[in-house]
Amino acid sequence: MPLLIKNARIITATDDYHADLFAADQTISRIESGIAERECPAGTEVIDAAGRYLFPGFIDPHVHIHLPFMGTHARDTWETAGRAALVGGTTTLIEMICPGKADQPLAALETWLGKARGVAPCDFTFHMGVTRFDAAAEGQLREIAQRGIRSFKVFLAYKGALGVDDRELYHTLRLAKELGVVVTAHCENETLVAERCAELLAAGKTLPEFHEPSRPVRVEASGVAHLLAFAELTGAEVYIVHTSCDEAVAEAVRGRERGVNVHIEVVLPHLVLDRSYTHLPDFEGAKYVMSPPLREASQLPRMWSHLRSGTIATVATDHAPFDFSGQKEMGRGDFTRIPNGIPSLEDRVNLLYTHGVCAGRIDLHRFVDAASTRAARIFGLKGKGTIAVGADADLVVYDPAYRGTISAKTQHMATDYSAFEGWEIKGRPSVVTVRGAVMARDGKFVGRLGHGRLVPRSA
Ligand code: URP
Ligand code: ZN
Ligand code: ZN
Repeated sequence: MPLLIKNARIITATDDYHADLFAADQTISRIESGIAERECPAGTEVIDAAGRYLFPGFIDPHVHIHLPFMGTHARDTWETAGRAALVGGTTTLIEMICPGKADQPLAALETWLGKARGVAPCDFTFHMGVTRFDAAAEGQLREIAQRGIRSFKVFLAYKGALGVDDRELYHTLRLAKELGVVVTAHCENETLVAERCAELLAAGKTLPEFHEPSRPVRVEASGVAHLLAFAELTGAEVYIVHTSCDEAVAEAVRGRERGVNVHIEVVLPHLVLDRSYTHLPDFEGAKYVMSPPLREASQLPRMWSHLRSGTIATVATDHAPFDFSGQKEMGRGDFTRIPNGIPSLEDRVNLLYTHGVCAGRIDLHRFVDAASTRAARIFGLKGKGTIAVGADADLVVYDPAYRGTISAKTQHMATDYSAFEGWEIKGRPSVVTVRGAVMARDGKFVGRLGHGRLVPRSA
């Protein structure tokens, strides 16, 4: 259905202006002042955006939905995650395909694609996880890149599970360089993690609060330095996921200064939560266990500062949703068995707006850039990440006057808890569209499951 948005204050990564916007056939066809309803075809849906912002649809470049991990499976499906994303203003997701070491990459792509296709209400694409690199995997990775999945994912952590060794890392980066594919990387030194976990457990330190000491900042910084040595020697473009601390950012910046093509991501939990949450009583601290872990509170202003300056390019979630009951609880008596991850897909945009824009830490343009535009550019998402004639009509009419609180009782994510229970949000999407179709209104999903499609990508 054609769409006319009147009286919009359009905010992009670079611009701020008032105009009306008309979209038909899934893309934006006019942005002008004073587009009259009578000029539009019969049946055009008209939305008055007076007093609200019009943002491009937000993009989360790092989510896990189908995720067999640490002896269990993440809770969301494309139905629950897609609804949550849209209600929260996110119109495109990039999911991590995380195959087991013995799995074939093409079969894994079909598995992950099969979960999304026909169900996802928002648009989507994938980072192809490389958990084994041999001749068979290489041939399939070439085919996968040719099919438009133009980014890989490697884990330098999770020894014996998802992690790659240095030979595999080297050849993955060489292949990526040849194919012009970006390699996203989880950077932690897995040997240090394994040894420290064993020492802590042997000393009887089994509670969630010992997760952070098992992988302190130097473990992550060392992982980043390691990746960047390989990126420098292969010439590959790399993207460091969920950077949690100043020390890791500093290593990335050092690499950048040497000429390495590196992008830095922060995820919402590392901007608004600190490690004191892992000390909560009654094992509630397990809700806040993720890797890299939540850090000292003193890290948060430093991460915001890197975000404000643009040193950190993007804000994702690393949405990895596990219930407290029955899943996080698997780690009672041994923190290394707590499934890692903090669900935040639904809350990213509102919390970034509340704690970033409203708190004066970032401006509206950096907000849009970090939560949408930059991910579209880095990962070649055609038509996404901006408001312009010819772009996809992925739009968020955002109400800055809204006030509300987050609760597991009202969220669309499938988990039995919210890491942000009772937190106030200042602002919320009023209307969210994906290629011109209205998918969410005022906290409710009103769209069609299966509307989402695989996003075409360029190098
Ligand atoms: O704790 C996390 N980050 N869980 C999801 C898997 C990953 O490392 O991204
Ligand atoms: Zn990770
Ligand atoms: Zn992740």
